[in-house]
Amino acid sequence: MNTSRLILTSLIPLAGILMMSSCSKEQKPASAQLSETQKSEILDQGNKASAALFGELSPKLKAAMQSGGPEKAITVCKEVAQTSTLEVSNTFSELKLTRVSLKSRNPDNQADDFDQKILRQWENVITEGKHFPEPVVLLKDDTTAIYYKPILADPICLNCHGDASQFPVELRNKLNELYPEDQATGYKLGDLRGAFRAEFKLKSQ
Ligand code: HEC
Repeated sequence: MNTSRLILTSLIPLAGILMMSSCSKEQKPASAQLSETQKSEILDQGNKASAALFGELSPKLKAAMQSGGPEKAITVCKEVAQTSTLEVSNTFSELKLTRVSLKSRNPDNQADDFDQKILRQWENVITEGKHFPEPVVLLKDDTTAIYYKPILADPICLNCHGDASQFPVELRNKLNELYPEDQATGYKLGDLRGAFRAEFKLKSQ
């Protein structure tokens, strides 16, 4: 029996726990400051808003992929994604809905420092195969709470977010033309592609 290997394997889960607890020190779940009622209202609104946006984007993407393949669908994504996000967001008076990513295609969707912490935490959870991350509510400052819900890469997503060297040349050209700063390729099935993000301004209690 190899003792050093045994020690190492038994330390790995401990390191994971320590890393997670140091992360959670930086980003306290809003429950620390928000009442349970406030927190569940925010979760509820965030879930509704992200489901509404998913319900807008998903069928449009599928229809575009079926009718013209990824090269055509990419134009639909470009035209539809941001306007649909804004439209859905506007139907919820208390929140501002966006999609964010560590590696964005549209630079407007690039995760900021605060977003990056939770996204990196989720990436680790997924890489370690621990569990599917649940939506969270985090308190950013005294007046702002943010809801995040993970977006994972499904098979259909890899047509445009997978290994770029396998993309048809028309698709690569289109991406270069429309998104010269594209970082959103190289994903594998089940990777964290990004998150739905809903920002709430808190009313003083
Ligand atoms: C036809 C190509 C195509 C497919 C398929 C596709 N996307 Fe995208 N995706 C895009 C384009 C184009 C953008 C940039 C849209 C914009 O300008 O806001 C984008 C943006 C995103 C963003 C916003 C963050 C960023 O990178 O700008 C997320 C999140 C995302 N896609 C997730 C997915 C998921 C999840 C799937 C599968 C269900 C998927 N995409 C399938 C083309 C595609």
